[in-house]
Amino acid sequence: MTILVSGPDGYIVYANGAAENLFKTSRSMLIGQHLTDLVPADSTIISLVDKVRRDGGDISEHGVSLSTSRIRASEFNVLASALPEHPGCIAISLHERSIADQIDRQMTHRGAVRSIAAMATLLAHEVKNPLSGIRGAAQLLEQGVNEEDRALTRLICDETDRVCLLVDEMDIFADRTPYRHAAINIHRVLDHVHQIAANGFGRHVRFVLNYDPSLPDVLGSRDQLIQVFLNLIKNACEAVPSKGGEIVLSTAYRHGVRFAVPGRGSQVHLPLMVSVQDNGDGIPEDIQAYPFDPFVTSKPSGSGLGLALVAKIVSDHGGVVEFDSKPRLTVFRVMLPMSTMEIV
Ligand SMILES: Nc1ncnc2c1ncn2[C@@H]1O[C@H](COP(=O)(O)OP(=O)(O)OP(=O)(O)O)[C@@H](O)[C@H]1O
Ligand SMILES: [Mg+2]
Repeated sequence: MTILVSGPDGYIVYANGAAENLFKTSRSMLIGQHLTDLVPADSTIISLVDKVRRDGGDISEHGVSLSTSRIRASEFNVLASALPEHPGCIAISLHERSIADQIDRQMTHRGAVRSIAAMATLLAHEVKNPLSGIRGAAQLLEQGVNEEDRALTRLICDETDRVCLLVDEMDIFADRTPYRHAAINIHRVLDHVHQIAANGFGRHVRFVLNYDPSLPDVLGSRDQLIQVFLNLIKNACEAVPSKGGEIVLSTAYRHGVRFAVPGRGSQVHLPLMVSVQDNGDGIPEDIQAYPFDPFVTSKPSGSGLGLALVAKIVSDHGGVVEFDSKPRLTVFRVMLPMSTMEIV
């Protein structure tokens, strides 16, 4: 969060490290500049500061857009507050919206995960029990029928087995399976998924691997991380054009990424970032608000469970998944904890 303090005459008397990043100027250069040198004179920020200078107290406003020669257009949540111990000084904090939005989105995923967990438990309970009865009955019948009819009883057995498997797959959404987490080299996971994709559903796609070789291990479950990246890469393959399709798999260590996790009251540090970027048409506008919800799909034969599963597994890993999407550039970023950290 960027913090500036404007002195009684409007000149900056304090700026934090984030302000250096935002205004792309060193702290010593920021201090002594007038607020109107940093943000346009007609900006909401100036009027908020003026109002607090006049009336005291504090005022916040959400979604204030700011764009200057130094700052690419972004939206901020702004809080201007008087500092009674320093008369005439106003503290201004700017919180870039994208981070606030990420947290909002994460909360939305958690809701989706909960609803699908409840549904999966119900399904498993209501569907699996009668299935074993049906299978048992078919096996009994099998003994007394001729060869021709035996093909039919076998069909019943095979199909009930298949439905059982499907239900088991759904059951992963239910919160009962204990997960075994270990130190995982995420590059091995990505290589494995890349190989599956390049030999199958992603044969038409050019893959670019952009790995940070010094990336520490992730704390996680290999099989589940494979599922996460298989789903993300499959979606990307389905999104890219049949000619010129490109998917970039990147990993990076990001020092500063901390997230507030709802219900935990503290922030977690998620320094490992794995992203899957594609040059397809982007997520259709009508589902951009909730692509992680179960059964949300734009594909004729899609189940809409891929991203719900991704959200569920990433959240079980104590991580966060978010996306940005516009035509020709869609990126899903998975932020994960390091293996030396304890997972709660
Ligand atoms: N990389 C992407 N580019 C464009 N749209 C995407 C991308 N990833 C997901 N989507 C959109 O989000 C929807 C939901 O994705 P999700 O993986 O949950 O389900 P699905 O792919 O439709 O079905 P399934 O994964 O079960 O085959 C997709 O139908 C698609 O519209
Ligand atoms: Mg999918």
